[in-house]
This record gives sequence, C-alpha cells and structure tokens, in this order.
Amino acid sequence: MSKVTVVGAGNVGATCANVLAFKEIADEVVMLDVKEGVAEGKAMDMNQTAQLLGFDTRIKGETNDYAATAGSDVVVITSGLPRKPGMTREELIGVNAGIVKSVAESILKYSPKAILVIVSNPMDPMAYLTAKVTGLPKNQVIGMGGALDSSRFKYYLSQALGVNPNDVEGFVIGGHGDTTMFPVTRLATYKGIPVSELLDKETLDKVVADTMVGGATLTGLLGTSAWYAPGAAAASVVESIVHDQKKVVPCSVLLEGEYGHSDILIGVPVVLGKNGWEKIIDLKLNAEEKAKFDASAAAVHKTNDILRESKLI
Ligand code: LAC
Repeated sequence: MSKVTVVGAGNVGATCANVLAFKEIADEVVMLDVKEGVAEGKAMDMNQTAQLLGFDTRIKGETNDYAATAGSDVVVITSGLPRKPGMTREELIGVNAGIVKSVAESILKYSPKAILVIVSNPMDPMAYLTAKVTGLPKNQVIGMGGALDSSRFKYYLSQALGVNPNDVEGFVIGGHGDTTMFPVTRLATYKGIPVSELLDKETLDKVVADTMVGGATLTGLLGTSAWYAPGAAAASVVESIVHDQKKVVPCSVLLEGEYGHSDILIGVPVVLGKNGWEKIIDLKLNAEEKAKFDASAAAVHKTNDILRESKLI
C-alpha cells in the first residue's frame, strides 16, 4: 500500500494528484488545501473519472487537516503563490518561504519518515529551507525543478529535430530559474546521436534560450504559472520513488562536495528509488560547463541567504 499526499490543490497540485491517480502510481492520494472545500471538490471530481478512465486509486481531499495525511510515503509540496507575468520565481520567496516552512513542519508531525518532493517556488531555496527546518536525512528532500526543465528541453529539442520527444535525451542541471538553469547540450542525444551533430549552433542556442524561459513563456500566455508539465514532472518523480524505478532524473538535492559545492540544494542528475534520491550521477563537466554550473550555484546561494537574513533558517 502506498500513500502519497499533495499539499496545495491549486493547478499544479491538482494536476499532480490527477496524474498520480490516473497512472495508479499510488494506492491512495490525499490532497490538502487551505481553501475550504477546494481539495474536497477536486478530489470528488477526480474520483468521478475513475470509471471513465479505469483507475482504482482513491483520492481524498481535505481542508487543512494534516491528520488525514498521516503515514504518507511521499509528500509533494506545491503550496504558495504562483508567478504572475513578468515576475521571477525568486520574487516569490517572501510569501512562499513562511508557507512552505509551516507545511513541512506540519507534514512531519504525521509522516515523520516521508520523502518530501518540493515544487513551490523559488524551488531550490524552498528545498533548502525544507531540508534545514525538517532535519530529514538528505535523501528524503528532493526539489523537482530539473525534471520539469529537462522535459521542456527535450520538447524543444524534439521540435527542432522534428522527431518523437520520447527518443530524445537531455539534462537540465543547476537552479530552476530563468537565468540559472543549465541545459547541457553536449550530452543531449537523439537515439544516442549527439544533437550537436544534427542541429547547427544557432538552432541549439535557440533551444537552450527557449528552455530557460520555458516557464516564463507559459506564464505570459496563461497569466499564471504553468501546471500540466509541472504537475506531471512532480508525479514522475513520485513514480520513480514509489515504484523504486531507479530512474535518473535531474532534481534539486543536497550537495556535499559533489560538483564542487556544498550546503546547497541544486539540480543534478540523481537516481530516484524507494529511499528517495539514492545516488548523484557525476556528469564530468568540462571547464566551460563547470563555470556555468558554478554561476548557477552562486545565484542559488544568494537566494538562500535571504532565508537566513529573514531568520527562516
Ligand atoms: C514553471 C514553474 C512552475 O517552471 O516554476 O512552470
């Protein structure tokens, strides 16, 4: 029996819960929200699709009742405000940090052994905050940004190549920010063929630029943050954990010397299995790539400092 809680039944949280149910990733999914009736309503709506879509997962919605989340194996935290057009993810820190902190503490009271998947923005600092305030073993705190950004990278690559996105491989590492994320083009492939052999530099540069502002482009179109890919990305992280799939996915995790950094949660490829993130994959970056990763880490450290200055950690 696996139980997954999704905190925040907004667009991203509800989409995540819906994917978890539809794909029967967990036996039980609990959605929690602060707005009276919203989680209950969305859960009921989803449960009414079970016969239409043929799934057996049970979905439960609750308003602020953390007791309902007790014994969760994995908890996805999506709480907080989304971006508005023109806003950076980092600008959300003032509002979201307090919310994420109190959610993480409440969750731990009822599920002390849970693996936490952080979605709220700014994602890397929110994962860092969660690691600090919960004191959980490092493998149990995972920020999902790299899973989403890598999916967008593969989408833009497949569009440029005119091929099936499932035949494209590629990692986005570093921070989950418009200027901090780092799509590693040298290691991206189409069926094992380096994409640099198939696309000219100008096209590849455009793929990278589009990937980096992938979230901002959608925020501009939608008037708020995207949710289908963010929700599905979080669900894919949960799937690899709950089903012990050992998939390699870039996620924000605590570095202790890996990639030359420590005291930071930032995106690097990790193996995801029943223990959370189980291993960091060393991509052996060249000097130019390492410089990009270092710049990204410096920016994430700077945002983490705001948490310290605000006495949140
Ligand atoms: C995005 C937000 C969820 O990238 O960070 O769409």
